[in-house]
Amino acid sequence: MQTVNTLRMLRTALAQLRGGNATIALVPTMGALHEGHLTLVRRAKAEADHVVASIFVNPKQFGPNEDLDAYPRQLAEDAAMLEAEGVALLWAPDAAAMYPPGFVTNVRVAGVSEGLCGAARPGHFDGVATVVCKLFNQVAPDMAFFGEKDFQQLAVIRAMARDLDLTAPHVDRIIGVPTVREADGLAMSSRNRYLMPEQRAAAAALPRAMQAAAAAITGGTEVAEALRALEAELLAAGFTAIDYATLADAASLAPLEKLAASPARLLVAARIGGTRLIDNLAVGS
Ligand code: PAF
Repeated sequence: MQTVNTLRMLRTALAQLRGGNATIALVPTMGALHEGHLTLVRRAKAEADHVVASIFVNPKQFGPNEDLDAYPRQLAEDAAMLEAEGVALLWAPDAAAMYPPGFVTNVRVAGVSEGLCGAARPGHFDGVATVVCKLFNQVAPDMAFFGEKDFQQLAVIRAMARDLDLTAPHVDRIIGVPTVREADGLAMSSRNRYLMPEQRAAAAALPRAMQAAAAAITGGTEVAEALRALEAELLAAGFTAIDYATLADAASLAPLEKLAASPARLLVAARIGGTRLIDNLAVGS
């Protein structure tokens, strides 16, 4: 695996990889890799000739009071994991390479970026859309892989690719991969490492309460009642705050008061101590 950190090196390496017409899959990450990321790489490897991974802790998607400085950085360890999975090329620019002096552009996706995490983290999805748009233009992959754990992020990226008529990748080649979970159901996340042991144990209440709420809604319980029970269960388990617990249309992310014909998703963001956890589940399908 080759690691490159300038655009010039990236372009040379990509030209070599593409050769005649080899296909390239991109797996964008912020590093601190876990089994969830490696699952994306394996899916990508199964579908493309070569996998390019990126590691860039994107300052534009962190708010002023968020954990940019504390965000785990372990490039050598991450590179070894990617190499072991057969990744061909690692694109690991620094902030100056991604956002050179004079950088003034912001990609903003209205609608799907506005509620849920967008409401709690102003500017976050602008930062995500801006960097992913750049990564797509830099690598020009045939396909790109993202985890469904960040369900709203995936919706924002797809809306951006559709609205901007991106072709590398085309919106239909932006592939969402189901969330990878720990044995107790907790969704894998780089942020789980911030949890103290007792918080980590309590965090398992999140997928458990969400499964129960999804089953209740599917079984006919009023959505509002199921969400109240979910919130109560989280607070009783030791969660300190719930940013949102919502049933939403899986495509538009508009809140739903009851199940409809189109696919629905249960989405939750809740805090345990200083750590904010998110998760989502399909409901009724
Ligand atoms: O999901 C992430 O790790 C990041 O938000 C992404 C997509 C790599 C953009 O920085």
